[in-house]
Amino acid sequence: MIKYLLEDEWKVIEDRFHPQYQRSSESIFSIGNGRFGQRANFEETYSGDHLQGSYIAGVYYPDKTRVGWWKNGYPEYFAKVLNSINWIGIRVFVDEIELDLNTCEVLSFWRELDMKSGMLHRSFEVKLSNGKRIAVKASRFCSMSDDETAAISYRVTAKESAQLRVQSYLNGDVANEDTNWDERFWLDRGAQADTRLASVAVETKKTGFLVAASMITRFNGELPQDASSRGFFAEQTYSKHLEAGEELHVEKFVGIVNSLNYTETELLSASQTSAKRISEIGFESAREFHGQFWDKIWANGDIKIEGDIPAQQGIRFNIFHLNQTYTGEDARLNIGPKGFTGEKYGGSTYWDTEAYCLPFYLNTHPSDVGRQLLVYRYNQLGKAIENAEKLGFSGGAALYPMVTMNGEECHNEWEITFEEIHRNGAIAFGIYNYIRHTGDRKYMAEYGFDVMLGICRFWAQRVNWSAEKNAYVMLGVTGPNEYENNVNNNWYTNYLAKWCLTYGLKSIIFLKETYPQLYSEKTEKWSFNEAEETSKWAEIIESIYLPQVEGTNIRLQQDGYLDKDQLLVSDLKDSDRPINQKWSWDRILRSPYIKQADVLQGIYLFEHHFDLETIRDNFEFYEPRTVHESSLSPCVHVILAAKIGELDKAYELYLRTARLDLDDYNHEAYQGLHITAMAGTWMSVVEGFGGLRFRDGLIKLSPVLPKAWKAYSFRISFRERTLLVEVSQDETKVSLETGESLEIELNGQLIRL
Ligand code: BGC
Repeated sequence: MIKYLLEDEWKVIEDRFHPQYQRSSESIFSIGNGRFGQRANFEETYSGDHLQGSYIAGVYYPDKTRVGWWKNGYPEYFAKVLNSINWIGIRVFVDEIELDLNTCEVLSFWRELDMKSGMLHRSFEVKLSNGKRIAVKASRFCSMSDDETAAISYRVTAKESAQLRVQSYLNGDVANEDTNWDERFWLDRGAQADTRLASVAVETKKTGFLVAASMITRFNGELPQDASSRGFFAEQTYSKHLEAGEELHVEKFVGIVNSLNYTETELLSASQTSAKRISEIGFESAREFHGQFWDKIWANGDIKIEGDIPAQQGIRFNIFHLNQTYTGEDARLNIGPKGFTGEKYGGSTYWDTEAYCLPFYLNTHPSDVGRQLLVYRYNQLGKAIENAEKLGFSGGAALYPMVTMNGEECHNEWEITFEEIHRNGAIAFGIYNYIRHTGDRKYMAEYGFDVMLGICRFWAQRVNWSAEKNAYVMLGVTGPNEYENNVNNNWYTNYLAKWCLTYGLKSIIFLKETYPQLYSEKTEKWSFNEAEETSKWAEIIESIYLPQVEGTNIRLQQDGYLDKDQLLVSDLKDSDRPINQKWSWDRILRSPYIKQADVLQGIYLFEHHFDLETIRDNFEFYEPRTVHESSLSPCVHVILAAKIGELDKAYELYLRTARLDLDDYNHEAYQGLHITAMAGTWMSVVEGFGGLRFRDGLIKLSPVLPKAWKAYSFRISFRERTLLVEVSQDETKVSLETGESLEIELNGQLIRL
């Protein structure tokens, strides 16, 4: 754990400069608006260690695959979200010495992320090498209410009289740190500048995405004195002599657009129009509109925890970042595991979206937001079929990629790309989850059925009959636990496959009965031989092998798991952890340690298939063997621990998931934040402590209160309604805030709201 940030209910604060954690802080204090995002890099030049990052949703580059040993079926490239035009830049020269926090004496420093209003603030005082002191107050935001715009207010106060020169700039000549071949990804498409407006346009190589940014800068309300442009670069400058105590206020208004939304001819003027729009509104009013947007998000999406500031700060931090990563406005966009906060995972879509993020968006936003996430996969079905064909499947079997931007697989480690096929199940479960939550059964008819068919066809071909076991088996897979590869009969994967086929059969009956015309159209479209194909599905459902420890309730991780030395996490020395940074891969593979919830992931998804004793036995078996080295792990364990009454354990794991990045448990916040796991944090409060479940169209709640909390409350969006759940030591109160009356089950009792 690394603790250097202050605890506060609504803010994240760094109260002095920690250059050694600058990369982590840049991730933690990131801001965004679903359309683009920006790490908390400094506006002024910083020559110390840092990662410059400004990312635009959906704009990526196919970085040619680099592997030691090529395996047939590997994708040609890994799509990467790109570090794009640096729009925050403001260089400051004091008597011609450049302000740079790496080279001057930092007398005071304060960085603050105000999550309530979506603002990043920073103030500091420094002494430059020429002995001159200045104080700076900077604030910025990426507007949520107008997602093509951003603004910066940057105030410089001279402590001694000095000549100030300020250069506000846009720079498209930027690179990613994470490149396979040290390539530059951008082509220069021209820059222009005058004192009113400056712009830079760039284009990605190969993918041909165009991005344009325009800026308007004001200096104490005045126009710049000079402007120039060259290549990727445009600047507006201003000089002024300041007496001691005098201030220069720089306001920078930016418009950023890209070719997902504009044609090439429209692009430049669209970015200029956006910059003008926000500059005409002005910093304070634009910030107010942005703040009102956040007010609405918090009004529905906040979780209040009383009596425990670290827990409160943790959950808000998670909710804040999720909302600024994905807004559900565009079905072409999705949620990268690091959102806009870093380069790791390439900004691509993983199974994380359906397994973790979907429940968060379903419960905290109108249903069309969650629907967009599903439509994204529907639109990529053709590519999922191609992907399966590349691996030797046929007849419309679909294997969704492990990692993708546009539907094509981008990942190239055989044990994950080819073997971590459980992702297909998460996508099917997402359809089920969405319909269960929203009641939108028509979705199945219009979109879901096609996806289900492709997925079921895949599972039907992926299993094989074992004469020895007298059962269908699934060989050579990797479960969610990536610390084991090429295993046979991973319980989670087999169980999920069985469930998918069962749900597939149900969706056929539903479609046939409810939308017969659509059913016959789809049967023809997909050359679906119902009798033949579904009889095989039924056989697999009947006799798929599900490993279990004999004489117990314990579902077995995979064939042969018990042959391993049955060591526990408590047998590990502190110096061994995290094992993925300390041990050889060979040692990890042979160890019994589980990276993340796997059997327990299955028990979480299908909890109602198991009795409490089975849930407890499996939790007690697997929790002591799980090292939680995936951010996606602790939240699932919280939910099950709360279910079986292990509240202290649930609370300990809650802090781990909620404060994973704030306290940097895994020493990796510098790479970016664990955005998708943040949705798991939300689940751990609402499903874990709140005990929220959806069964048979009914909301069920069975809240518990961790000892450290006085009370907590959250809201749920459910079928055009908003419910407020308030849990305190004395009582649980559920109120219907909007929408029609409904019946729910609270602690086993039916009540009408
Ligand atoms: C986890 C995967 C996850 C990926 C992206 C990995 O460390 O093991 O389950 O999909 O991170 O979050």
